[in-house]
Amino acid sequence: MTDDIAKGKQCTVVLDRYGADGVAVGTGPDGVEVHVAGALQGERAVVEIEHVSQHRRQAWGRIITLAEVSAHRTRDHDAPGHRCGGCSWAHLDEVAQREAKEARLQEVVDACGGPARPMTSPLVVPSPRMGGYRNRGKYVLARKHGQVVLGAYRPRSHEVGSTLGCPVIAPAVDETARALASLMAHRKWSIYDERQGRGLLRYAGIRVNHRREVLVTLVVSRLVDRPWKTLVKGLRRQVEGLVGLTLDVNPDPGNVLFSGETEQIWGSSELVDRYGSAVVRLTGQGFGQVNRDVATVMYEHAARATLAPLPGRAGSSEPPALVWDLFSGAGALTQTLARLASESGGSSDILGVERDGAAVHLADGAARSAGLTNCHFQVGDANDLLFGDDQGDLPEAVVLNPPRTGCRSALLSALVAQRIPRVVYVSCSAETLIRDLAILQKGGLHLQTLQAFDMLPMTPHLEFVAVLER
Ligand SMILES: C[S@@+](CC[C@H](N)C(=O)[O-])C[C@H]1O[C@@H](n2cnc3c(N)ncnc32)[C@H](O)[C@@H]1O
Repeated sequence: MTDDIAKGKQCTVVLDRYGADGVAVGTGPDGVEVHVAGALQGERAVVEIEHVSQHRRQAWGRIITLAEVSAHRTRDHDAPGHRCGGCSWAHLDEVAQREAKEARLQEVVDACGGPARPMTSPLVVPSPRMGGYRNRGKYVLARKHGQVVLGAYRPRSHEVGSTLGCPVIAPAVDETARALASLMAHRKWSIYDERQGRGLLRYAGIRVNHRREVLVTLVVSRLVDRPWKTLVKGLRRQVEGLVGLTLDVNPDPGNVLFSGETEQIWGSSELVDRYGSAVVRLTGQGFGQVNRDVATVMYEHAARATLAPLPGRAGSSEPPALVWDLFSGAGALTQTLARLASESGGSSDILGVERDGAAVHLADGAARSAGLTNCHFQVGDANDLLFGDDQGDLPEAVVLNPPRTGCRSALLSALVAQRIPRVVYVSCSAETLIRDLAILQKGGLHLQTLQAFDMLPMTPHLEFVAVLER
């Protein structure tokens, strides 16, 4: 690599594409790929190189000036609340975001060889709200110049930047974060210092539901007798709709936020939330889709595809008798499946499988409260389900909704080997979806439809629902 690409050097880059993380990419001196956070496709930027890869011809630069500005730019890339690096498209207009997401969907379609049925319009189901849609905020706590900062690590750094005023977070979550920052400003609150591994308060998790009720979870390094009551009093005064304050005790210095070991300080340890017809119970730590409106549409779409009649043995068409909903979390999709099955008069039975025992306990209780008798839940590793001694009846349709890392190949091979007639794969990662669909397709499951949902506007991320049939 030439000396022109070295830390501290300046160069001009024409940004001509976006990387998978949504950051604009162009070609710098000597053909090196330069990633420039805050820049947009079509812009020309003078950048200072901040980091050069030791292994690849790649570098990362910071904007000094924009020599050419995109017509799709809506605001300054460094506006308050836009600095965490999570929303790489917060300054890109809605039209350009949609076009970029449609292009991304097309890349996934091409990588999968295309679905059997024509794509339906809109190709990417939009979010009704571009901002303020996130019903949950996770904040790193830090003390800087005497002030308490609630925010996120800046990209490739251990410095915490404030994310108060974040454009995508629900206003109630932002207001609660501001209240915490002001209540903890006093020196008596010991804030964890990640570098020294010392201090008490590490992270804050804030959830708001459809009724604007708020649940706060504070991650602490150890359980100590602090004036929690004073904190609760202050929070109740400042946060309308506060329903509970929970501590999660996590002494592990790694970057996993929650340990799951809890101490209830005040009020409720759970929040009831609604995704369409599904009424779920969420802890502060468990998984819940952050964009309620888009998740509701996506669950309906996935449930309809899963329960569509399959050609029966006697030549008739019947909905699948048994459906497995693997990686079922708090059971929002499981409930949507169960409700749709009973409303359409079918006799399908739905089994949700999830490894988080607390989520399964709450999912079971929520389904009973909703009067659903055709769904059940099981604690377990979804990847192992087809390998036990006692597998019981095999399903006719399997829904997969794993974390970003995708499914273990052994599970996918087992679905193929057991000749499961239908697999509906709900994924938040294009990379692992493409990888996992290749195994299923090679095993004789054909991709019928592939739909994308704009779950996280202002970011490059998409949620996909792929329907495969044998
Ligand atoms: C993307 S979330 C989906 C949850 C649910 N389908 C929903 O829409 O709310 C993935 C879920 O998989 C769970 N999980 C992760 N690994 C698992 C495994 N090996 N077996 C079972 N569940 C797992 C996580 O706890 C999380 O609840």
